[in-house]
Amino acid sequence: MVASPVIVGITGASGSVIARELVDALLERETPVVTVASNAARMVWHEELDESYNDAVARWVEHPHFTQYAVSDLFAPIASGTFPTAGMVIAPASMNSVASLAHGLTPNLLLRAADVTLKERRPLTLIPRETPLHAIHLENMLTLSRMGATILPPEPPFYLKPLDIDGVVRFVVQRALVSLGIADRLPDDMQYRDRER
Ligand SMILES: Cc1cc2nc3c(=O)[nH]c(=O)nc-3n(C[C@H](O)[C@H](O)[C@H](O)COP(=O)(O)O)c2cc1C
Repeated sequence: MVASPVIVGITGASGSVIARELVDALLERETPVVTVASNAARMVWHEELDESYNDAVARWVEHPHFTQYAVSDLFAPIASGTFPTAGMVIAPASMNSVASLAHGLTPNLLLRAADVTLKERRPLTLIPRETPLHAIHLENMLTLSRMGATILPPEPPFYLKPLDIDGVVRFVVQRALVSLGIADRLPDDMQYRDRER
């Protein structure tokens, strides 16, 4: 039996590379993935990565466990709680989508799928990206945290002395997999170790 898919919602915050690496990592693990990208996400993707979002989709559709829906497609299966999923990651999560979700606003498929994930009490992980954060951003994230969502900012693990952005992205992706229960632990080289004393 094929496992239930993980939904990856991609919004228009900076950090498209996190979404790309996350989808790659899930497919490498043979985990079924459903993606939905906001219109702003497509713009930022093109700006930050040297490809269009459609180019990435064209690669992923080669994988039998990959599905994607348009953000306007409110008839997609992930718009209903009756469709089983293993949870959802919003990566990166814009403050606009965080605010909408915190207030139960679901004008597009990405937000509807996230709202469904919350109401069905399935794992929901947000990778918010904005700096600095004002009080409304913080209050919205607090609301979502209290509802059970995991708020996972893409912070560098300074103690691991990451050499570059790729190292930070890999770390954040692995953290997201653990938060969903897709991986049971971080790889050994990403765990904090006591120094030799
Ligand atoms: C290049 C670029 C980078 C952006 N970076 C961020 C960001 O880091 N965080 C954020 O909250 N919004 C960011 N925005 C603004 C969002 O894209 C904008 O608020 C948009 O309405 C979000 O829509 P969505 O939530 O439907 O994706 C950025 C926009 C652009 C064009």
